[in-house]
Amino acid sequence: MLNVTFDSALRVFHLTNGAVSYVMRLYHEGYLAHLYYGKALPEPLNVESFFYETEREGAPQPHGHEFPRLFSLDTLPQEYPGVNAGDFRLPALEAAFDNGSRCVDLRYVSHRVLKDKPALTGLPAVFAGDRDSLTLEITLKEVAGELEVRLYYTLIEGLSLILRHSEIRNTGSKPLYLNNAASLSVDFLEADFDILSLYGAHANERNVERQPLKHGIEEISSTRGATSHQHQNFVALLRHDVTEFSGELYAATLVWSGNFKAAIERSSFDNTRLTLGINDKGFNWYLEPSECFTTPEAVLVYSDAGLNGMSQTFHTLVREHLTRGQWSHALRPVLVNSWEAAYFNFNEESIVRFAKDAVNLGAELIVLDDGWFGKRDSDTCSLGDWDRIDTRKLPSGLKGLADKIHALGAKFGLWVEPEMVSPDSELFRAHPDWALGVQGHSRSQQRNQYVLDLSNPEVRDYIVRVISAVLSSAPIDYVKWDMNRNLSEVGSPAFPACRQGEIATRYTLGVYDIMERITGAFPHILFESCAGGGRRFDLGLLYYMPQVWTSDNTDALCRQRIQYGTSLIFPPQTMGAHVSACPNHQVGRVTPLITRFICTASGTFGYEMDLGRLSPEDKEEVRAQIALYKELRETLQRGAFYRLISPFEGTRNETAWMHISEDGAELIAMYFKMQAEPAARLRRVRFKYLEPQARYEVVSHLHSSTPVHNIYLKEHNLKGQVFSGAQLMSAGITADRIDADAASCMWVLRRVD
Ligand code: DGJ
Repeated sequence: MLNVTFDSALRVFHLTNGAVSYVMRLYHEGYLAHLYYGKALPEPLNVESFFYETEREGAPQPHGHEFPRLFSLDTLPQEYPGVNAGDFRLPALEAAFDNGSRCVDLRYVSHRVLKDKPALTGLPAVFAGDRDSLTLEITLKEVAGELEVRLYYTLIEGLSLILRHSEIRNTGSKPLYLNNAASLSVDFLEADFDILSLYGAHANERNVERQPLKHGIEEISSTRGATSHQHQNFVALLRHDVTEFSGELYAATLVWSGNFKAAIERSSFDNTRLTLGINDKGFNWYLEPSECFTTPEAVLVYSDAGLNGMSQTFHTLVREHLTRGQWSHALRPVLVNSWEAAYFNFNEESIVRFAKDAVNLGAELIVLDDGWFGKRDSDTCSLGDWDRIDTRKLPSGLKGLADKIHALGAKFGLWVEPEMVSPDSELFRAHPDWALGVQGHSRSQQRNQYVLDLSNPEVRDYIVRVISAVLSSAPIDYVKWDMNRNLSEVGSPAFPACRQGEIATRYTLGVYDIMERITGAFPHILFESCAGGGRRFDLGLLYYMPQVWTSDNTDALCRQRIQYGTSLIFPPQTMGAHVSACPNHQVGRVTPLITRFICTASGTFGYEMDLGRLSPEDKEEVRAQIALYKELRETLQRGAFYRLISPFEGTRNETAWMHISEDGAELIAMYFKMQAEPAARLRRVRFKYLEPQARYEVVSHLHSSTPVHNIYLKEHNLKGQVFSGAQLMSAGITADRIDADAASCMWVLRRVD
């Protein structure tokens, strides 16, 4: 199935893994053209029909070409387009040479096939794991500029995607500047697409937006030094008829956590070019002779089974080919976090009491959030002073506290924010030059903090040393690694003027270096990354830390949208989700405890509230929730996740999704309705992806007018009822009518034959 062929007569490359085919051809003097990406094609291919050269007014022809007027780089579908050589569309590569040239015109030199998926030096990357893979490496050369480009294309057995990255080498004797180096550029000889992207803000991450592709250029990007709350480094091109369940689409994302740009150009001839990579805005890489720049890896998924089909491919990629370490596949513990329960206002006694109450109800991991070091009674100071435990609050130190929590039978977790420094900190007073900054400009503050200069190896070594000392000082089982601001005044005294355009990129590479060293040194620790919630929820960080705090917004209604959008790319066990107190701390809304539970159960489940302050009834409810979650955890964390009803479409008032266990024997479906309506219809929730002949018994039926510990409803309780897969898919289950806001239902079914 897995095959890479090169037809030397026709000069055609065909990569296939049985799921997808990727076809390229060398034209004329070695121009590398893109002919096809999509559903797998059988050999032999007839390459004559993919594309033909045709005259276009306004499209320049390369000098001395044998077919004047027909051939132009401006109309050729290309693999890695240069600039200033006759193609006016989006370039993948831009460079400035020592002689002043800004012309990049790439031609084929050679190629080879690699059996092992190459790692990317200093960068996170997908690995093939237990599956076979093949990688095609194609070398191109700039015609005059002494610059070489190696393009990498990897297919993994059975996965409907292609991985791409490039290496750009200075093969000359003079330095040059790279001004733009995309990870991926792909041309489609068509333009009838919708663009789907994920936009947001702090506490409002990853909203799904879909609009028809217009002529001109659309850009989705970040210059904030992180993937950002505002835009996910993700874009999909959808045929107009694509739904969650059917239709053909292409979706691209990056294994990268820094500045990025996805740009989509619809040309006047209705061709579409998609480029994705590090944002060229502010990017400028000084390449000395023989130095090489490696772009982050891009993932280009093809689905002919709609958005759910796409998500299954991404979820498999994340689970089997990206997250690493002991915790990658392990079931995640039920967590209780102190942040919304206490903020900065705690001491050892109150945390031990908080932990006792939580453990009593079934919690397995107690996390102490911000506020345990320096004089951190608010967010105005002390970031950086990790070696100064606040003994006013924790008289027996971290070890004393961790031991007490372990004695209760729970694991102990800790919050850190190692990439930042407070102006009011011992670290900043000792090393003011360790924060990012630009000469002549005062530094902006965000949340009263500066960003440490992670491009500087000395700063990185310090962070690794001080955080390692903290993690070795006490029995710590879990770390929440936070990052609470965007990067501004990006500059570093550790680098010369010619390299200041590298600092934002070097910052992200620095994050990876630190994370590789720390996660490698503490393999037993479960790491959860966080960046003011979901500012840096991306494939780059998931390579180091297998779960991410999805959003600072814990409101059950907002969370439906946030988790729905997030699930387009990321599986549930990567999504931190906590039940929190009411009124909700972000939006002030009051929602039923059970709705908060049902929504949260579709992530790495926990609580972010003081469980000891609940009423006796609510405590019993939480006890029952935790017990039920533990019973269902295998399916919720390891099973497949499918979206059924979108909160971004139709009335935008309902959401439904479902989990199916790995063996297909257990189904958990959840339905939510945000606002109550007068004269509400009875809503059928139709399941998907079941075996029609199989029979399933409802073993649990909850809804928001009944708490979990009292699951016997008087009416409409389907417990004990048996349905065929066919009926669940065609007729569905009619959701309970609940005349209240923030309503929810959950059905657990088990296969009976
Ligand atoms: C931002 C995080 O997203 C919150 O969960 C919390 O950890 C705070 N930082 C602590 O300062």
